Parts: sequence; structure tokens; C-alpha cells
Amino acid sequence: MQRTKACITAVGGYVPDYVLTNHELERYVETNDEWIVSRTGIRERRLLKDPDKATSYMCIEAARQVLEKSNTRPEEVDMVICATTTPDYVFPATANIVADAMGMKNAFGYDVSAACSGFLYSLATGAAMVESGRYKKVLVLGADKMSSILNFKDRATCIIFGDGGGAVMLEPSQEGYGIEDMVLKSDGSGFPYLHQKAGGSRRPASHETVDQDMHYVYQEGATVFKFAVTNMAQAAADIMDRNQLQPDDVAWLVPHQANRRIIEATANRMGIGMEKVMLNIDRYGNTTNGTIPLCLWEYAPQLKKGDKLVLAAFGGGFTWGSIYLTWGI
Ligand code: UT7
Repeated sequence: MQRTKACITAVGGYVPDYVLTNHELERYVETNDEWIVSRTGIRERRLLKDPDKATSYMCIEAARQVLEKSNTRPEEVDMVICATTTPDYVFPATANIVADAMGMKNAFGYDVSAACSGFLYSLATGAAMVESGRYKKVLVLGADKMSSILNFKDRATCIIFGDGGGAVMLEPSQEGYGIEDMVLKSDGSGFPYLHQKAGGSRRPASHETVDQDMHYVYQEGATVFKFAVTNMAQAAADIMDRNQLQPDDVAWLVPHQANRRIIEATANRMGIGMEKVMLNIDRYGNTTNGTIPLCLWEYAPQLKKGDKLVLAAFGGGFTWGSIYLTWGI
């Protein structure tokens, strides 16, 4: 008997209105549009400026679209998984805040903290829940308000990230499409190169941690770049090998959007042209957990039933991996 597959049945997305251009960043740090575009591929990113709005706000905006498109009433949702590095609070989980705000009274949920690979891991978790046969409607969210942890005096980090997020519904597949395979990896020895120094139990917030700028993203970019470019490409190549996928078989690469050069290296390793690569980095920068669902949301109108998609990500932890899925909408 064929196993039940978990299929994406609807996609939603949200980016805030405020556009922060490279030229505006030139006013805050010593940088320039030419450097940012050539080193990263980013031209502008979005900021959620309203101090009263947090990650849950973007999740709710995206989730609303998903409920509507999948003809789902809030009380029908079984589970909510929220991939985020910038939760509204340390606890409770942002997933619970979203579920409550949307009236998902029968859902349980939690957050997944895996930096830029969080959406990939959450999709994998949600798929396993559906495949188990216990749950029929699993809402997977991926969103970050990166501006809440960015130091706009640090040119090594503030030029890269942006705010935004997306959502998908996972349901048992009716036609045999869905999540086909996954390669998920992590290596905690990558900690020194990408982390937030304070705010957790190791270094709780204090006057000192605030004075020393320890609540911002810290990244040693060149080292992270080397690991990312190798591992993201390797994970994508591995999933192709394991599933006997030739370059022509792959309809789309859906990569995490950290740096256009990393994305190009991954496509190159897979043997596919850039015309088959989903991109939003030029307009949104690195939205951390938001990049992949935002790509799916924007490209969904171009996708056809049965299209073979390879998702790939790399992020803090280190965490990385790849998911192969067949599109079923
Ligand atoms: O999504 C999570 C995982 N994260 C990633 O995958 C990010 C991976 N890393 C990267 O994308 C790149 O390393 C960055 C875009 C962050 C940086 O690009 P890079 O080519 O690796 O630059 P670098 O850090 O090696 O710096 C090269 C030079 C340095 O100057 P010197 O020492 O050569 O004089 C930097 O000080 O560029 C300088 N620089 C800048 N110049 C203008 C660094 N940031 C900037 C800037 N504008 N914003």
C-alpha cells in the first residue's frame, strides 16, 4: 500500500509596506548600493515599522489567505507549527498566539527554532504529523521580524535581513502529490559564527547586555558563507541523487534567500539554470524563516500540478537541508 503523503494545499504570504532601500542604508552605515548588490543580490527589503506589530501579525496575515484558499474553518485546523527566530515572546510560542487570534480552538502548536532552516524543518515535522494519519490539517508558518534584532550600526548584518513571512497548509494528498523526501542536517559547532549573544538563559537581559549590543544578530559572514555554499548545494545534490532526479526533471529550486551567490552555486551544482530558481532576495533580502514560503507564495501562479520542487536552506546552528516535493495544487 502506498504511504499517505502530505501535500501543500494552499500558500499565503505577507511583507510589510515599508521599503528600506540600499540607498537609505547608506545614510546609517558606511556602505553603498553597488557593494550590497554585487556581494548579496539585495536591492531593498521590507520593515515592519509599527512597534505594536510583531511576528505573529505577519503570520496571521499569511494564514488568513491559507484558510481561505484551502476552504478551512479555523476550528478545523489540527496543528500550527511556527518557524521563527524572532518570536513575539520567549514564551509562550508564537504558534499559540496565532491560533488564539484566529479562533483555531482545536489546534495544538509550538514554535520551531532552527534559524534559516526553520521552515524546512517545520515542513518536515508537519508532513510527518500528516503522514502518521493522526492529523488532517497542519498549518506551517515561517516568519521573522528581523528588524527587531538588527543593529543598524553594523554594516555586516543590517544590510542583509528584512521582515516578512508566509504560510502553507499541509493535508493528506488526494492524488499522490506532496512531500517526497528530505535531507535534514545540523552541526552545533557552527554556533560561534552566527548567533545572538544575550536574551537566553546563558546571558539573560541586563543593563550590561543592552549597553554592549548583545541582543542583535552576530554573524561572521565570510565563514558562514563558506559553510552555506558547500552544504546547501550538497544537500540539494544529495536529494537529487537519492531520488534519481536529473536536472531536466526539476521544475524549480526553492532556495533560502541569504545571498544570491550561494543560490547560484546551489543551482550550478544541481545542473539547473537560473530560470528555474525562485528568487525574492532582490526585493525582500533575507527574511530568515520567511524566505521559502514567500517564494512559494509569489511563484504559486506559475506552478503546475506534478511539478518537482527542490527546497534547500542553510542557517544558524548550523542547520541545513533539502526537501523534495511534488506540487499538488
Ligand atoms: O541566512 C543565514 C546564513 N547566512 C548566510 O548565508 C550569509 C553568508 N555570508 C554572506 O552572505 C557574506 O559573507 C556577506 C554578504 C555577509 C558579506 O560578504 P563577503 O563578501 O563575505 O564580505 P566580507 O565579510 O568578507 O567583507 C569583505 C570586505 C571587508 O573589508 P576589507 O576587510 O576587505 O577592507 C568588509 O569590511 O567588505 C567590507 N564590508 C562592507 N563594505 C561595504 C562588509 N560589509 C560591508 C558593507 N558595505 N555592508
